Amino acid sequence: MNGPSPRITGLGRYVPARIVTNDELSTMVDTSDEWIRSRTGIAERRFAGEGESTATMAAAAGSEALEQAGVKPEDVDLVIVATSTPDFPLFPSTSCLVQSALGLSRAGAWDLSAACSGFVYGLVTACQFIETGSQRCILLIGADTLSRSLDFSDRTTCVLFGDGAGAALIQSDPEAGGLLSFVLGADGSRAADLEVVAGGSRSPMTAERLALGQNWITMNGREVYRFSTTVPVTALVQATERAGVTIQDLDLIVAHQANARILQTAAHNLGVPEDRFYINVERYGNTSAASIPLALYDACVEGRIKPGALLGFMGFGAGLTWASAIWRWQGL
Ligand code: ACO
Repeated sequence: MNGPSPRITGLGRYVPARIVTNDELSTMVDTSDEWIRSRTGIAERRFAGEGESTATMAAAAGSEALEQAGVKPEDVDLVIVATSTPDFPLFPSTSCLVQSALGLSRAGAWDLSAACSGFVYGLVTACQFIETGSQRCILLIGADTLSRSLDFSDRTTCVLFGDGAGAALIQSDPEAGGLLSFVLGADGSRAADLEVVAGGSRSPMTAERLALGQNWITMNGREVYRFSTTVPVTALVQATERAGVTIQDLDLIVAHQANARILQTAAHNLGVPEDRFYINVERYGNTSAASIPLALYDACVEGRIKPGALLGFMGFGAGLTWASAIWRWQGL
């Protein structure tokens, strides 16, 4: 490819101050720190507090990414927020709230809905605009507030999720690098494996549906586990083939942080050491669209990603959806 390349020039993150430990959850449902740690690797997660929402967290993460890149708000061409938990059920979009909060006066704005795969779907989308040369500066944010859709009487789901936001500023760069290949996929026939039944156009919220708890997340955990350890792994292999590299060439795999066991099994299935996967799920739980940018941020802070590194992004989630991308890291 001879045109401009996408380069991540700034990263940002926001997690709420409120830490919820496994022990605290054990006071609400019949669970234990031992069960949660051994099945998921999660030790604690953050829950949004009063006054916090997906948009406020997204704006805070976006602000840090802009600052790190040294880019002024008026220089941003587009803002994309990947989320399943928008501030409003219909409109305005969360990205419009972020556009206003950050003073992105020239930016177009829209939300992207691909659940936990949303950040990688957004990354691939943003890169298409950069590579055609039509846009030069895109703020991509993954943000979710799943704590507000959890049924705290259902121990099979409420222990898994947390809130947060992660952002990447993607700019046009003359040097080769950035996105080398990608695979996007979906299987809507498996939609019921992870869903919130009511509150949309199919089943608008009523007092009856509310009383039935149809506003909460429900999940077929075993099916999601089976899916998560197989389909996204195959997609990552396909992405490496499209990039003309192998899984062994990847310096780090930055995957959706659903569950440490899923990532350990994925490492086993791929034939790479477990530490090839970056894991920070113990600190945040599953933050859905925020989890990959939060992992990327922490991996950079910890010095796990050096300029020239070959990264594999591996997203998977509700829909069901999956998204893999191979990325040559140029340095911030
Ligand atoms: N605490 C204590 N016991 C529990 C809990 C809990 N929080 N949750 C379930 N159990 C019990 C079950 O009730 C069951 O008890 P029973 O045998 O008496 O019926 C027992 O533990 C075993 O249940 P399983 O569902 O078989 O447990 P499993 O080992 O499969 O682990 C888990 C459950 C962790 C949810 C697993 O299926 C999983 O990781 N699935 C993937 C789901 C996931 O990560 N989803 C995130 C959203 S999707 C995404 O991001 C892609």
